[in-house]
Amino acid sequence: VTAEKAGFDHFMLKEIYEQPKAYRDTMMGRISEDGRRVALKEIGMTLEEIRGIRKVQIVACGTAFHAGLVGKTVIEDLARIPVETDVASEYRYRSPIITPDTLVIVVSQSGETADTLAALREAKRNGARVMAITNVVGSSVAREADDVIITQAGPEIAVASTKAYTSQLIAFYLLGLYLAEKLETRDEKWIANVLTSMNQLPEQVESILDQANVLKQVAESISKHSNLFFIGRGVDFAVAQEGSLKLKEISYIHSEAYAAGELKHGTLALIEDGIPVIALITQEQLYEKTLSNIKEVKARGAHVLAVINAGHEGEVSKSVDEMFAIPRTLPLLAPALSVVPLQLIAYYASLALGHDVDKPRNLAKSVTVE
Ligand code: AGP
Repeated sequence: VTAEKAGFDHFMLKEIYEQPKAYRDTMMGRISEDGRRVALKEIGMTLEEIRGIRKVQIVACGTAFHAGLVGKTVIEDLARIPVETDVASEYRYRSPIITPDTLVIVVSQSGETADTLAALREAKRNGARVMAITNVVGSSVAREADDVIITQAGPEIAVASTKAYTSQLIAFYLLGLYLAEKLETRDEKWIANVLTSMNQLPEQVESILDQANVLKQVAESISKHSNLFFIGRGVDFAVAQEGSLKLKEISYIHSEAYAAGELKHGTLALIEDGIPVIALITQEQLYEKTLSNIKEVKARGAHVLAVINAGHEGEVSKSVDEMFAIPRTLPLLAPALSVVPLQLIAYYASLALGHDVDKPRNLAKSVTVE
């Protein structure tokens, strides 16, 4: 068994460390040789069909849904097509408005999640074109979708999804750039610049993994608490939701993810002395806004760990208790880096509490029944 885990204590840790490779493999063959264009040969849509897309609906469960939240921002920002996101168990029963000019994107690591598959079938019944982002070739979702983007994360064994999630982010970045080029919403130079930054992500993840010890200490102090908050704005909020889910499912510590600007509409009442708050502050354009939310919780006694961009230590240090810096990248790409410390915090918190990291209670890797 240790051999299968390649020397790691758990599959989850092994899979966290496989992310640089998963990023490279998911990008491989999908970027033109000159590094300036995305080539998604697996997409069978004609230019006319792409131009005809009026709306995108992203449907998934759990962590795959959280990847979809980032995907929404990516597609709206790059391709300027309106995007709705739904958890599959809601979508399938809420009589969603699906038209033939809707592109439905289902996201599923396993490709076998019952609700996601049902959502896919509902979308097809209503005449939508369905694209799947999945990690398993030949899975039900892959077989039934019209277009399939395979994430090359390799088998994911731990119940807590890590490398599948980040590979889904890479798939969304590639898709967003592909649509932007086809729809001419971004020019070639701009696209090439994003691709250059994407190519740096694997090494940047490696540099985060090299600091795992710092995160282990953070996790050990968090593990003494029974409640905490994750806050952020924009894609930082999407990552906050994923960080919170990861921590809940394997450490059993209750946490909530909140849009930082929404705190004062209720949740601030829960902030009391010593409560840990993990704040993501990676989005330049929202920087001042999030910083003022951090100050709000800090003034009420919260113990704040901020996930920041390298280079901002000076400005942020006065307002927080601890900082973890991620390497500089484009704001839209930050989730592919900022989620990694949160995965490690969840892992080490679970470990500190003596839980079964790879097989948390009450959960299955793939939810194939409703
Ligand atoms: C992730 O850590 C969870 N175990 C879970 O939310 C999972 O992402 C969800 O069940 C969806 O699975 P899928 O990607 O295989 O469809």
